[in-house]
Amino acid sequence: METKNDTTPIEKVFPDAEDFLPINGTDYIELYVGNAKQAAHFYKTAFGFQSLAYAGLSTGVKDRESYVLIQDKIRLVLTSPLKSGADIGKHIDKHGDGVKAVALFVDDAFSAFDETTKRGARPYFEPKTLSDDLGEVRMSGIHTYGETVHIFVERKNYNGIFLPGYQKWESHYNPTPIGLKYIDHMVGNVGWNEMNTWVKFYAEVMGFTQLISFDDKEISTDYTALMSKVMSNGNGRIKFPINEPAEGKKKSQIEEYLDFYEGAGVQHIAVATDNIIETVMALRDRGVDFLYVPDTYYEDVLDRVGEIDEDLKPLKELGILIDRDDEGYLLQIFTKPVNPRPTMFFEIIQRKGAKSFGKGNFKALFEAIEREQELRGTL
Ligand code: FE2
Repeated sequence: METKNDTTPIEKVFPDAEDFLPINGTDYIELYVGNAKQAAHFYKTAFGFQSLAYAGLSTGVKDRESYVLIQDKIRLVLTSPLKSGADIGKHIDKHGDGVKAVALFVDDAFSAFDETTKRGARPYFEPKTLSDDLGEVRMSGIHTYGETVHIFVERKNYNGIFLPGYQKWESHYNPTPIGLKYIDHMVGNVGWNEMNTWVKFYAEVMGFTQLISFDDKEISTDYTALMSKVMSNGNGRIKFPINEPAEGKKKSQIEEYLDFYEGAGVQHIAVATDNIIETVMALRDRGVDFLYVPDTYYEDVLDRVGEIDEDLKPLKELGILIDRDDEGYLLQIFTKPVNPRPTMFFEIIQRKGAKSFGKGNFKALFEAIEREQELRGTL
C-alpha cells in the first residue's frame, strides 16, 4: 500500500490527467428512503431545507414519489417507491435509507457519458433528453462503488424549477434555513482492499486527481483503523474521499457501516457553512444529534492548532472540532447517523483557509464513534 505521510503537501499523484470531464459542481443528491414525505419534513425541520419541487402521482409519475429540497446550492432529492418489487424498494430493503445518486452538473452530459464509458465506466442509463415547455435537460448515468451511481446533468437550456417532470412544490411550512451553503465533500466507504480500485476508477475513468492519503497508522485508535484517499476533479469543486477498513483490535466504524449498509456506499455528506457556531446551535435546537466530544479534547486543542478567531467556549459547548493545515484551519462536527442503521451521517464544516479534511481530529472522532459503537454492541 503506497501512502503519503501527513506532512506531505497536497500533491497531484496523476499530474497529467486531462480534464475530459469538466464538472461545475454537485447538481443534486438523491436518497432512496422508506417514506419520502416524512423524510422531507425531517430535512426541512431539522436541517433548514426549503421545499423546491415534487414529482409523483399528481404529476403523472406512477411508480415513485420524489420531493426536492434546497438550501443555497444544495439540492436533496428524496424518493420512495409506490409499488413493491421495484428497484427503489429493493435498494431500501438491502441498504436502508441511503444515497443512490450523486448527480454532477456538467456542460455536456452526452460527452460525459462517452468519455467515462469509453474509459471503462459501467453505464447506468444512456444519454437522454428530457423536455417540457421550459426547455430541455440532457442526462446520462454511470455506476460507481456499491449500488451508488453518478448522474451527469446538463441544464444550460432549462429554465424550470428542477427537472422536466417536476412541478414547483409550494408549502406553507417553511422553517428558516440554518446557513448550509454547498456540498464540501462526500465520502464513500468501500470494502476490504477496494480503496485503490475506486481511486483508480476516479483517476482513470473520471480524470480526478488524488489530493491526500492516510494510512492505518495515521488513522487509528486502540481499536479501529481505516485508510483513506481523497479524489478531486480538475477544478476542485468535487471532492470524494474514499475509505476502506483496516485491521484493528475490534471492528472498525467502516466495517460496521459495510455490515449495516450491506456493501459500499456514501458514508457522509459534508456541508459547508460560514458560521458553524450559529448553524450547529440551530441544528441542536431542531433536534439533530451530534457525536459527543470529551471535554479533554479542548484542554490542549489550541496548543495543537494555534490561534483561532472563535472563542473556545461555544466550540466546546457544542462539541465542534478544530484542525489546522499549512493553509489555515477548519472547524467541523459530525452528526450521529440519521437513519436507524448506523450508516449515513452529516458533517458540518467551516473552512478558514484549510483545504484538508480534519486529520488531526480523526483520533478524537473515532474514539467518540467507538463510544457509540460500544453502546450499540457493534464494536
Ligand atoms: Fe468529512
